Amino acid sequence: MKTLVVYASKKGFTQSIALQIAEGIKDGSKAVNIKREVASCNLGDYDACIIGGYVHAGKMAGALRSWCIKHTQTLLEKKLGFFICGLDEENYEKTIGDAFPAELVKHASEIVHAGARLVLKDYNPIVQAILKKITKSDQDLFLDRPEAVKKLIEAFSS
Ligand SMILES: Cc1cc2nc3c(=O)[nH]c(=O)nc-3n(C[C@H](O)[C@H](O)[C@H](O)COP(=O)(O)O)c2cc1C
Repeated sequence: MKTLVVYASKKGFTQSIALQIAEGIKDGSKAVNIKREVASCNLGDYDACIIGGYVHAGKMAGALRSWCIKHTQTLLEKKLGFFICGLDEENYEKTIGDAFPAELVKHASEIVHAGARLVLKDYNPIVQAILKKITKSDQDLFLDRPEAVKKLIEAFSS
């Protein structure tokens, strides 16, 4: 199923997941960054759409929400999925529910938590100190969820 994967990524982990998903589904599927390439894409050319993003301080990128609001009617006519990348594996459905229009969340056939990567040296010392306090760890953190990526790929492969 030709799928447009629209993602927001600060440090590259969500981008890597979006690329894996598009490459796994094949069939002309493509992953596009919400900040850069999405404007040059015609959603009408795709059978399905998967939207994914990182979480910072409990929130997903506002640009993803704005894009979804702009394209709500078209998205309601397509197979739809959401994925989220974040360290909190428990509250991710609520975070997605808060981030996107309720009718789209209800319409989505797949909503998955796709893992997280937190590399402390990617951030300045002040942010590093805050992150260490929040995570109660002074280590880089990596949550691998290959089964979630596989689930999305299988659901959107026709
Ligand atoms: C400043 C900051 C705040 C974060 N806040 C959250 C959060 O509230 N909930 C969560 O689950 N993960 C949180 N994370 C973890 C990121 O969502 C995670 O590192 C994600 O994989 C980043 O994706 P990216 O590499 O695409 O930017 C936070 C990370 C940073 C750096």
